[in-house]
Amino acid sequence: MTTRARTRRGQRRPTTRPAAHRAGHRAAAFTPDALSVGARHLEVGNEWVASFAVTGFPREVHPGWLAPLLTYPGRLDVALHVEPIDPATAAARLKKQLAKLESGRRHTAEHGRLYDPQVEAATEDAYDLSSRVARGEGKLFRVGLYLTIHAPSERALADEVAALRSLAASLLLDAKHTTYRSLQGWVSTLPMGLDLIGMRRTFDTSALAAAFPFTSPDLPAADPTSVAAPSGVLYGYNVGSQGLVHWDRFGEGMHNHNSVILGRSGAGKSYLVKLELLRSLYRGIEIAVVDPEDEYARLASAVGGTYVHLGAAGVRLNPFDLPIHTRPDGRRTAPKDALIRRSLFLHTVIAVLVGGELEAAERAALDRGIAATYQQVGITADARTWTRPSPTLRTLHDQLATAGQAGDRAAAELAARLHPYVEGAFKQLFDGPTTTQPEGHLVVFSLRDLPDELKPIGTLLTLDAVWRRVSNPAIRRPRLVVVDEAWLLMKEKSGAEFLFRMAKASRKHWAGLTVATQDTADVLGNDLGKAVVANAATQILLRQASQAIDEITQTFDLSAGERQFLLSADRGQGLLSAGTQRVAFQSIASPTEHHLVTSNPAELAGYEDNADTGDTEQSYVDLGWADDTTDEQAYAAGTDEFGSAGPDDDIELDAA
Ligand SMILES: Nc1ncnc2c1ncn2[C@@H]1O[C@H](COP(=O)(O)OP(=O)(O)O)[C@@H](O)[C@H]1O
Ligand SMILES: [Mg+2]
Repeated sequence: MTTRARTRRGQRRPTTRPAAHRAGHRAAAFTPDALSVGARHLEVGNEWVASFAVTGFPREVHPGWLAPLLTYPGRLDVALHVEPIDPATAAARLKKQLAKLESGRRHTAEHGRLYDPQVEAATEDAYDLSSRVARGEGKLFRVGLYLTIHAPSERALADEVAALRSLAASLLLDAKHTTYRSLQGWVSTLPMGLDLIGMRRTFDTSALAAAFPFTSPDLPAADPTSVAAPSGVLYGYNVGSQGLVHWDRFGEGMHNHNSVILGRSGAGKSYLVKLELLRSLYRGIEIAVVDPEDEYARLASAVGGTYVHLGAAGVRLNPFDLPIHTRPDGRRTAPKDALIRRSLFLHTVIAVLVGGELEAAERAALDRGIAATYQQVGITADARTWTRPSPTLRTLHDQLATAGQAGDRAAAELAARLHPYVEGAFKQLFDGPTTTQPEGHLVVFSLRDLPDELKPIGTLLTLDAVWRRVSNPAIRRPRLVVVDEAWLLMKEKSGAEFLFRMAKASRKHWAGLTVATQDTADVLGNDLGKAVVANAATQILLRQASQAIDEITQTFDLSAGERQFLLSADRGQGLLSAGTQRVAFQSIASPTEHHLVTSNPAELAGYEDNADTGDTEQSYVDLGWADDTTDEQAYAAGTDEFGSAGPDDDIELDAA
């Protein structure tokens, strides 16, 4: 390097030399030894440089859009010359520009020529811009963007130039060589504030602000000066930068802890929810999941959670249980009005069971029945009796029947209507005390296998159990309530109302509601659904179906770029939006996490032997082997309708 520099010094060519002599010895340290000027490049000292002026910009930019240039791995100087235009001049120029564009369009129309989409877009933008300038919402700037790339040799420079041009093209920037003005191009990128090229474009405030080097596509850190690991959980990596996306729903600035996740089926909603759930468990957050699709069983068993599989044989939730909580130190507590509240809740339960509002006489009979039921097992207004075993629906039924025999017609009627849930086909859910106490760090309520007739009541009992946990003031800790495929729940009236109440009240109980749903139109088209979305401080949009995108665009005020991103997002990619912050991310799991959270049937088939859901054994009975073909089993063994099975019975058809 030094030898080369010396030879250069020896054969100084008559080139422009910055005023190194005059500026004295110190300045000379910064000036090059020699400068030779080519049409498209310069040799500065022993370096080869080429400069570009950016003449074309994308129509729409996102925050930090210059970042790929600023973080270019080679040596690249980026200079941005900004000159404000005063509003009066701006308005006049815009007017002139509009007149030009409009007259061009008229001319096109008069001569029956085809519309030029570029001109159409430019006209639209110009109108938009002029109205914003007129309202004082934005200002205009003349902006020149110049790039100078450095390389050690001519060959390397050619490579760098090609790389830079393709990078610029990928950003939809049109970078042009400053041909025959290479020296001016270079000087324009030196930190001297001289723009000798003068190839400027008009920018408005927001586009310019988005180019600012310190705006980044990352979410702002809670405390930029701290080097501590970010709080919250990892959602994935940032699609627009090299950063990671951490988000803390229980963070300080959050006005509530709720989140909604909207995306079409297969977009990766459940995957993301399960990842968040796992990572929140690490932070000691207690979680309850309402799982209408029965997807969380493997996860629950892996982390030692409680799995309440409603609809499976012998799984019961007794609505008569009083809300008694066991504190970590073993003491049991209950709200003061526990018995009264339970009685009120039982009215709702019975109304759902018998399918409709109760009449006044029935209500009165039921009220007496409920009181007698608790009394029969020794539970009274005295709180010391509350730890005794709860009655069941059968006790209530018997009480009503007894009252009926004593002449109370309404009680007799109610007893008859409750009969199927006590003796008949639907008794499975109520036939005894609660089997699994829904307690622990993770409780999953699976509703998929509930028969349709029991869905409304099963849902009600589940939500009651969840609400009891969340509203328990005895143990204060952050909690999450996850409702996956929420549209299934919102179909039930009690479900929709629960979500609404939960969304509104959860913050007071230090709880966050997570609602994931694919049926965007249904949720946004319904008042309760809208309220749930509006009450979520964290909103996550994954890939959207094209039918839903218009509504989503409007509700979340998406830009055209964001809209396009959501239409074409990969699995697991989405936008996290919180207040004014938006970030595009891709969810990502470690192999262990992936194993626990995937719902891909092909992968699950491979795991079957080591996954312990116990599901298959419970819901299917063994009918014996298919190939010991006794008469009765022959059908099960796949005989055809003629009863022929096995080679011995075959009829030869081609003997002729
Ligand atoms: N970030 C991701 N990385 C790898 N696989 C993913 C990711 N997100 C989703 N998947 C897979 O895509 C499929 C659909 O995801 P899922 O979360 O069940 O969709 P949704 O709940 O939105 O219908 C599943 O097989 C899941 O394992
Ligand atoms: Mg899902």
